[in-house]
Amino acid sequence: MPATSVIGLQWGDEAKGKIVDLLTEHHQLVVRYQGGNNAGHTVKFDGRTYKLSLLPSGILQSHVTSVIGPGVVVNPLALLRELDGLAEGGQDCSDRLLVSDRAHVICPWHLAEEAALEKSRGSAAIGTTMRGIGTCYGDKVGRSHAIRIGDLVDADSFAAKVREIVPFKQKILNALDPDASQLDPEQIIAEYAAAADRIRSMACDTTTFLLDALDQGKHMLFEGAQGSLLDIDHGTFPYVTSSNSSGCGIHNGSGVPEREIQHMIGVAKAYTTRVGGGPFPTELDNEVGEQIRIAGNEFGTVTGRPRRCGWFDAVATGYSARISGVDSIAIALLDVLSGLDELYICEAYDVRGTVTRTLPSRCEDLAAAVPVLTRVAGWQEDITEITEFSALPANAQEYVRTVERIVGRPVEFVSVGPDRAQTIRMNLN
Ligand code: GDP
Ligand code: IMO
Ligand code: MG
Repeated sequence: MPATSVIGLQWGDEAKGKIVDLLTEHHQLVVRYQGGNNAGHTVKFDGRTYKLSLLPSGILQSHVTSVIGPGVVVNPLALLRELDGLAEGGQDCSDRLLVSDRAHVICPWHLAEEAALEKSRGSAAIGTTMRGIGTCYGDKVGRSHAIRIGDLVDADSFAAKVREIVPFKQKILNALDPDASQLDPEQIIAEYAAAADRIRSMACDTTTFLLDALDQGKHMLFEGAQGSLLDIDHGTFPYVTSSNSSGCGIHNGSGVPEREIQHMIGVAKAYTTRVGGGPFPTELDNEVGEQIRIAGNEFGTVTGRPRRCGWFDAVATGYSARISGVDSIAIALLDVLSGLDELYICEAYDVRGTVTRTLPSRCEDLAAAVPVLTRVAGWQEDITEITEFSALPANAQEYVRTVERIVGRPVEFVSVGPDRAQTIRMNLN
């Protein structure tokens, strides 16, 4: 397939990194198009585990050019830290990475401003990753105080912008928090200029690069970050991230027209997790939730926070599949459910007496939603070595088929462990 995409259908951490890694061998380009270093994608093969945050998951494969598109927000220091970490482990990848000169730059004031805003919300905090993602996107939309990669790598232009922006930001920070940190523009310029010297050779017009690559018949893979329910327009606002993390973001975040994407795969866990605040109708705030958290090692890749766990929500996942128009789904972490006597799948919500099969627009309504659950019998066997669907316990097969039926999209992959090899590929008719 010339252009394929992989997106998350839940609230992130669905195992997108694993599925992207699996598909990478058939692609020459892997593209991140939204989000930033709030993402944490795990790739595991040959006994090694890699945790990628800003870098596309294709970066580990030498035949791939990895692209960070215009819709991504880039913290240059974090980008270099990540590249250096890989180089220390024997993987020097900087010569196969391109960064859009249109991508926006996360600066120290974005982190400081986010810390003050989150603090001001008290118990209603969004629970962000504190990476300055939302505040950087805010400045991008606001335009006046925005800096792009193209500005960063132009030393004079960058220094002038920092000297102009810092006094404005300091006033805002002081007003938000009397204990706000004091920004030193010259120190920021020096630190970022050193990073810019290393990023300059990677910075380019990735949009034209990708469009030319399509003309040349190259195969590209789009790697979504976060999940569709965290989408700024279509997710559980305001408990969302600040980009279009559903399939809707691919076109605007990369510059590649939607119609070029022949195949879109939506990834979902066999249950549901969420990190941070916000409504979660199928949440299991009990022993079963704890059992899933431990079996699935459900602790944030980026922040280490325990993830909230719950039953598979086919209403929310089905909504995500519809808004992005996914062709197929990958069900991951099915092995985590082994050992539970009974499993439940949410097929509708009861919102104050009205039964609905779609995601309410307002998070107040979602918070009031009582899940209508379908029971599926569990299985006890360890399934982590199984590579054929027909070899799964009958109840596990039934579980996957029930998810498929309610979500309304065919299952293309079933993942039964973190490693590349622990994957069942289904025949799509
Ligand atoms: P991403 O953000 O969507 O790429 O997902 P994360 O990497 O944040 O979280 C997924 C976690 O599940 C990682 O630790 C993976 O190594 C792990 N994982 C992926 N697939 C499976 C699976 O099928 N079974 C189990 N047990 N773990 C998996
Ligand atoms: P990957 O790509 C899970 C969540 C945060 C918070 C909300 C807003 O690994 O699936 P932000 O820092 O983006 O402003 O935080 O979004 N969040 C994620 N949750 N996986 C992610 O990425 C996430 N990226 C952001 O926890 O609730
Ligand atoms: Mg993750």
